[in-house]
Amino acid sequence: MPLPLWHNSAWMKAARREPTDVTPVWLMRQAGRYQPEYRAIREKVGFLKLCKTPSLGAEIMLRAVEQLGVDAAIVFSDLLLILEPMGLQLEFDEGAGPVIRNPIRAAADVDRLEELDRLDQLDYVMETVRLTRAGLDESLPLLGFAGAPFTLASYAIEGGASRDHRRTKCFMLDEPAAFDALMGRLARAVARYLAGQLAAGAQAVQLFDSWAGCLAPDDYRRAVLPHTQAAIRAIGSDAPVVHFATGNPALLPLMAAAGGDVIGVDWRIDLDDAWRTIGHDRAIQGNLDPAVLLSSPDEIRRRVHDILDRAQSRPGHIFNLGHGVLPQTPVENAVALVDAVHELSRR
Ligand code: CP3
Repeated sequence: MPLPLWHNSAWMKAARREPTDVTPVWLMRQAGRYQPEYRAIREKVGFLKLCKTPSLGAEIMLRAVEQLGVDAAIVFSDLLLILEPMGLQLEFDEGAGPVIRNPIRAAADVDRLEELDRLDQLDYVMETVRLTRAGLDESLPLLGFAGAPFTLASYAIEGGASRDHRRTKCFMLDEPAAFDALMGRLARAVARYLAGQLAAGAQAVQLFDSWAGCLAPDDYRRAVLPHTQAAIRAIGSDAPVVHFATGNPALLPLMAAAGGDVIGVDWRIDLDDAWRTIGHDRAIQGNLDPAVLLSSPDEIRRRVHDILDRAQSRPGHIFNLGHGVLPQTPVENAVALVDAVHELSRR
């Protein structure tokens, strides 16, 4: 049987560190509030409802991929949905973002978090995977995703956005056994969830550890790394895994030790420094500051040129922002970025 076209796409080749004609590019939050079409849908449909309506989620992502000309799609969903079947009550507050009504605040609360043994309550995510894959150009890969155990634990404990992650850190320090049990339960859930998305038709997955950057390296090494490592190993697939975190370049070698074929880096470190630290035996994803997209197409081009220079055409670079697209981003600047990456990297 011939290999599907996505197998030799620029994105998949780069994830395997094979040479490509152009540097592949996609954007975290490439479907979202910066798009007028997305905002129009959101005037009628709440965010969680949108995530639970696979036909709409697939349509939103397919439209973004087409509009931008990016080299990969990502499932339209949210990081926190996995917590619902585990027993947490998730709501989306139009002002404050996601909120958990019954957060984990005491060691005993960890026991009421259910093991995610089955994925049937997340079947709508699998349906979004299937529909997005069915509508996507065969030459492009579809990425699944999940939150990494620490970022999920942090949300489960804080109950919402937090600047200092104070409750999470206190829990980690004062209740080490319960914290470890929580992380273990989340790691198993994440592995099952990602394996499910791959089985439903995704070609690769990204693990978002968006909040791990708040940790001191030694705390990450001790309390987080073993669980992220276990989650990545337990996916049990050859599909590429992107391991992404933000906010703390000192964690990069530890993230690489935890695993991932591709390490996702933010803009707080130069790409060449980051790659040296991670090791050239891994692929790298990143790392333009999303704020640059609020500037001019000329400035965007200059910054793209700089990042490509630092990558030195070494196989294994996937271009992305260092974090998600900001809602204030002009759509034409996002398009200008994708065009600039393709044009300036052509070999
Ligand atoms: O286009 C894509 O990248 C795919 C979809 C996607 C969303 N969330 C949609 C979304 C992905 C991959 C995520 C991941 C996610 N969700 C993360 C990790 C990435 C990151 O940004 O660090 C986190 C921490 C979440 C949890 C979450 N969801 C927060 C904190 C918020 C509110 C903050 C914000 O930007 O509004 C969301 C909402 C969210 N997730 C939106 C979208 C399109 C905006 C919802 C809306 O108002 O319409």
